[in-house]
Amino acid sequence: MKNMLNVALPKGRLGEKVYAIFESAGFPCPSIKEQNRKLIFENEECAVRYFWVKPSDVAIYVERGAADIGVAGKDILLEYRPDVYELFDLNIGKCRMAVAAKKDFRDDPTKTLRVATKFSRIAGEYYASIGREIDIIHLNGSIEIAPILGLSDVIVDIVETGTTLKENDLEVKETIVPISARLIANKTGFKFKTEQITRIMDEMKKQCGENKQ
Ligand code: PRP
Repeated sequence: MKNMLNVALPKGRLGEKVYAIFESAGFPCPSIKEQNRKLIFENEECAVRYFWVKPSDVAIYVERGAADIGVAGKDILLEYRPDVYELFDLNIGKCRMAVAAKKDFRDDPTKTLRVATKFSRIAGEYYASIGREIDIIHLNGSIEIAPILGLSDVIVDIVETGTTLKENDLEVKETIVPISARLIANKTGFKFKTEQITRIMDEMKKQCGENKQ
């Protein structure tokens, strides 16, 4: 049996686009399209094994070597700093990390700013870089509610279309960093499977345009 390349795909919206890139790059796995709740799919001929994981868990699988490669958002890479190689920008899943607040919010620099977020490190580093004292309120979801209920002054979250903010009467105040999906590799896996990974990466790059770092 060939040496299988283990690939962690982010489950959900982004995952479908990511798989389509692997497929058009010449590494298909037709059974993945069957409607069922299976999470692992392999194509022995192409020597690839795909598995669906929570988008925020992709980097953990790759860092620990359960996956050789995977696709993770730059937000996750900035927040968790996994010890992996970041190979290239797929140029999909584009959005931005931003500070948002109620439209009438005015920052009072004499007060500690209350910041609700899932991305505590990104938020902490951003405010440290501008020398603003903050109190981080770490939440796990529905961040947009925090300023509405007075739990926080602002939020730091991902904004894609802006619809979630708009529908909750919030608006972007600052953009912190642009985000997109990245191909990442386990450091040891890359050493032992360099050829296999480079081949798949080169074919993927052709599908994504040249988005080298
Ligand atoms: C993100 C983010 C916002 C939303 C922004 O959540 O937390 O709620 O997307 O998208 P929009 O600007 O297009 O409205 P996501 O759907 O990724 O799920 P999550 O709440 O689990 O993070």
